[in-house]
Amino acid sequence: MSDKSFWLRCEKKPFERRAALTPTTARILIESGFKIYVERDQQRIFDDSEYEAVGCKLVENNSWPSASTDIPIIGLKELPASDSSLSHTHVQFAHCYKQQAGWSSVLARFFRGGGTLYDLEFLNDVNGRRVAAFGFHAGFAGAAAGALAYAAQKTGTKLGSLEPYSNEQAMVTDVKAKLIGREKDVKVLIIGALGRCGRGAVDLFRKIGLDEDNILKWDLDETAKGGPFQEILDVDIFVNCIYLTTRIPPFLTQEQIQSAGNARRLSVVVDVSCDTTNPNNPTPIYSVNTTFFEPTVAADVGAGNPPLDVISIDHLPTLLPREASEQFSADLLPSLLEFPDREHARVWVDAKKLYEEKLAEAAKVENL
Ligand SMILES: NC(=O)c1ccc[n+]([C@@H]2O[C@H](COP(=O)([O-])OP(=O)(O)OC[C@H]3O[C@@H](n4cnc5c(N)ncnc54)[C@H](O)[C@@H]3O)[C@@H](O)[C@H]2O)c1
Repeated sequence: MSDKSFWLRCEKKPFERRAALTPTTARILIESGFKIYVERDQQRIFDDSEYEAVGCKLVENNSWPSASTDIPIIGLKELPASDSSLSHTHVQFAHCYKQQAGWSSVLARFFRGGGTLYDLEFLNDVNGRRVAAFGFHAGFAGAAAGALAYAAQKTGTKLGSLEPYSNEQAMVTDVKAKLIGREKDVKVLIIGALGRCGRGAVDLFRKIGLDEDNILKWDLDETAKGGPFQEILDVDIFVNCIYLTTRIPPFLTQEQIQSAGNARRLSVVVDVSCDTTNPNNPTPIYSVNTTFFEPTVAADVGAGNPPLDVISIDHLPTLLPREASEQFSADLLPSLLEFPDREHARVWVDAKKLYEEKLAEAAKVENL
């Protein structure tokens, strides 16, 4: 059993306001004997004072590299690209286990520094389900962004920058206002509808008033026949919410879109799954992640054809930062309480084993 502590680092990705530890979960950890360090951060949705009030020790912004290597560093998103070696134990999403662009160089930093990565995406319960995930709010926010892009397109404009909402109701009210009654005509298709993101997307579409018959919900059974799928071209908004594990036929292709010409109803694609740089991306009609500042990218639809906007934002839940953080952190808490016993606690033992496998693969690729 090692020391009970966590160091909550600041997030460096622009617009990322969420936190892996909230004042609520930090308080419970402290009551259980943990020491919690929190980097001061203006960007985070929670004020520094909220952490201080529950007994956290505030430290300087982005000062974790100088922390003792005995203290595990917890954050959400990947660290900024760099060649510097990593010698701490990091708990975070690193997006480097599925051959994403630059995956081996990220792991090489851990290899060189002797640190350890516990990737939040791969902390699973006994049934193989993620112990904590942001999926529900990602799907909810992605569907909202899709409906906003649709509304903008129908009024001859382009969706402008997105700002985090104070809460879910504010988001629903805003989307409904922008649709100005069009919601009764909107038809959507969600693939991966039985998962976390998919359920969130369905929930948003219901809350903004779509007819239930106009919310098509697909999962493994419906895609088993293999894409590309004409059915996607026949709705207004397509939301991809699958968890990609293997190579599958594409759901949608550029060729299919171009040859449909004017017969295409589809006007917005929201790729919540965001496997943008994954060679097996089932929606290979775009190649960049979009941002809150520039939420849509135009698909190449061929000259004279109606527009098709793609949203591929990889941090959608931050549109609802407070609720998304509270839910994620509460779901993660039981595992965090076990972290000092990580050499024996199953969830952490499995995560470390996976890390070591990926590290070995990266070492080969990088000739380390
Ligand atoms: N863009 C973002 O901000 C954001 C945030 C959170 C999660 N995500 C991503 O969203 C994806 C889904 O996450 P989740 O938590 O909802 O996963 P999940 O496991 O809860 O759900 C995935 C669903 O996809 C279905 N599925 C898998 N392959 C399929 C296929 N070929 N055809 C049809 N359905 C299929 C599964 O049956 C399941 O119901 C992940 O890739 C995750 O990384 C993105």
